[in-house]
Amino acid sequence: MSEGNGMKKSIRVAVTGAAGNIGYALLWRIASGDCFGTNQPVTLQLLEIPPGMQRLDGVIMELKDSAFPLVHGIVGTDEPNIAFKEADAIFLVGSRPRTKDMDRSDLVAANGPIFVGQGKAIDAVASPNVKVITVGNPCNTNALIACANAPSIPSRQFTAMTRLDQNRAVGQMAERAGVSASKIHDVFIWGNHANTMYPDPRFGTVDGKIATDVFDREWLQGPFLDTVATRGKAIIVARGASSAASAASAATDHMRDWWQGSNGRIVSMALPSEGWYGVPEGLVFSFPCRCENGDVIVVEGLPVDSFAQSKIDENVAVLLEERDAVSELLGN
Ligand code: NAD
Ligand code: LMR
Repeated sequence: MSEGNGMKKSIRVAVTGAAGNIGYALLWRIASGDCFGTNQPVTLQLLEIPPGMQRLDGVIMELKDSAFPLVHGIVGTDEPNIAFKEADAIFLVGSRPRTKDMDRSDLVAANGPIFVGQGKAIDAVASPNVKVITVGNPCNTNALIACANAPSIPSRQFTAMTRLDQNRAVGQMAERAGVSASKIHDVFIWGNHANTMYPDPRFGTVDGKIATDVFDREWLQGPFLDTVATRGKAIIVARGASSAASAASAATDHMRDWWQGSNGRIVSMALPSEGWYGVPEGLVFSFPCRCENGDVIVVEGLPVDSFAQSKIDENVAVLLEERDAVSELLGN
C-alpha cells in the first residue's frame, strides 16, 4: 500500500537479541532498506533480556543518530508480547552462540526453551501473515520449537537460516573459479545448519557454465563440502567469536528474497517439511526454494543421486535426534 509519494505504509519488524553481535550488524541493513526495499518504512521492535537492556539503549541511541529516513519508530523492550505485537517480519536471533569446543546441537538445551515462550507470543500477538526467520542455533530445531508453539500461524511462515551456508558455498566457488560471486547461481543447501549439511552443486552455474563441469568431483565432495560445513567453527577459532556480519548479511538476503522475490533463482531456506523429497513431515529442513509473491515455494522434482540421497538421509537422522531431544518443548 502506498502513502502517495511512492512510500508504502510502515511495517513492523521485530528483532530478538537486538543488542548482540548479529543484531548490531543486522539492524543497520534493515534500517537502510536492504531487506524490505528502499520505499518501505519500518518500525523496529527490539527484544532483549533484562541484562541486555542497557546495551540495547545504546544501540537505539546509535540507530537514532543514524537518522535513517525509513525508520518510522523504534521500540526497545524485554517483553516478547510487546516486541512481536502486530509484527509483519520477525528475526529470531537472541540466544547463546557456541564456543569453539561445542557443536551447534550442544546449544539445544540452553537455547531451545527460549523459542517456546517466543513461539507462544508470536501466536498471540503477531500479524497472522508474519514471516519468521530463525537464526539462533541450533536454528532448524529452534524454528521447529517456535512453530510448534504457534499453532494459529501456518507452518510455512516459520523458516530457519541456511542462507549463510549457501553464501559460503558461493564464495568458495567464486574464489576457485576466479569470478565474482554474482556469476554463481542456483547452488543451495540441503538439510540442517550443522556439519552434516549438503551444499549441492549439481544445478549450480558458474558464469553460465554447469558447476559440475567447472569443478572436479573430488573438490566438490571433499574440500568444498568440508569448508562450507565447518566454516562456522573456523570463524569462531579465528575471530574468537561466532560469525556476525556475514550472518546478518545472510539474514538480510533470506528475508529480502522472501519479501521481494528471488527473481526465479533457487535459494536455500529451511522450513517445516510437507514430505518433500521424502523428508518426514514437520522436520525443519533446508530445501531448494524459490520465492514469489511473498511465498516460499519448494522446488520439487530435482533428481537426487546416491550421494545427495545419503546426505539427505544423514540430515534427516540428525534432525530426528534433535527433535527427540526437545520433544517436551513441542507442546504435544
Ligand atoms: P550474542 O551473544 O552476541 O548476542 C545474542 C543476544 O541475544 C544477546 O544480546 C543476549 O542478551 C540476547 N538474548 C539471549 N536470550 C534472549 C532471549 N530469550 N530473548 C531476547 N534476547 C536474548 O550472539 P550472536 O553472535 O548475535 O549470535 C546469536 C545466535 O545466532 C547464536 O545462537 C548463534 O549461534 C547464532 N548464529 C546462527 C547463524 C546461522 O547461520 N543460522 C550464524 C551465526 C550465528
Ligand atoms: C555459523 O555458521 O557461523 C554460526 O552458526 C555460528 C556457529 O556456531 O557455527
